[in-house]
Amino acid sequence: MYARKNIHKILRQIVEEKAASRKTHNDMFAELIGNEKSRYRLTEEQVFDQIFTILYSGYETVSVTTMMAIKYLHDHPKALQQLREEQLAIRERKKPDEPNDWNDYKSMSFTCAVILETPRLATIVNGLLRKTTQDVELNGFLIPKGWRIYVFTRELNYDPVLYPEPSIFNPWRWLDKSLESHSYCFLFGAGGRLCPGKELGMVKVSTFLHYFVTKYRWEEVEEVEILKFPRVEVPNGLPVRVSKH
Ligand code: HEM
Repeated sequence: MYARKNIHKILRQIVEEKAASRKTHNDMFAELIGNEKSRYRLTEEQVFDQIFTILYSGYETVSVTTMMAIKYLHDHPKALQQLREEQLAIRERKKPDEPNDWNDYKSMSFTCAVILETPRLATIVNGLLRKTTQDVELNGFLIPKGWRIYVFTRELNYDPVLYPEPSIFNPWRWLDKSLESHSYCFLFGAGGRLCPGKELGMVKVSTFLHYFVTKYRWEEVEEVEILKFPRVEVPNGLPVRVSKH
């Protein structure tokens, strides 16, 4: 609650600065605040709540997916090579500083497969919350109306019937596009509450990977060197040292 108060203070400052500058801002904040012509106006509290939600759900998910993708790619040179080839092919058909566009992103089928395999194996969001709106009978059990349910997605992500050899990093399994649309695939949730930032999240991670693999190489730091960087921690692995190609 203390952190929330601080963020609130920062957001208020931003709103005041924006109002004072009289410039037109073309960003998400401006969209949420709206203007006289907007069909729906949110109250300031509602705008702040939206920003909190987006910060909370859009930050850790993307950063942890990025971090774990780097870890898995490091551990699987064949996957790294295939991903790098895909990204270099995109770079080759562009001018040196030309940014990627939507068509480039859409052509990254292997990179997207790596991104999907990462939250499956790392189970970045390990469950979903729902509430029953009526009595539900499931495999002979009755879940009464009004109960809160926690769908433990980690269990599904590691089910060997759904994902053969579930503890192995195998991005190739996602080249079968139908896997993503199965009813047991909850990587980005399901139903009416499906993650609205799914595509944005995928674009962010793939853009990072694009520049990371086309411009840098990296290596794990020897254990003895960890002592020099006591604050750098990577789950299940060693810190990495990054250098330019
Ligand atoms: C790799 C990145 C991401 C992953 C793995 C992820 C995963 C998820 C999951 C599993 C849910 C729960 C959905 C459900 O209950 O059915 C969710 C909800 C949500 N996500 Fe994401 N997400 C990611 C990126 C983002 C980004 C970038 C944003 C926004 C900028 C975002 C915004 C949200 C919001 C607002 C919800 C709540 C939706 C609702 O309850 O109606 N997410 N996400």
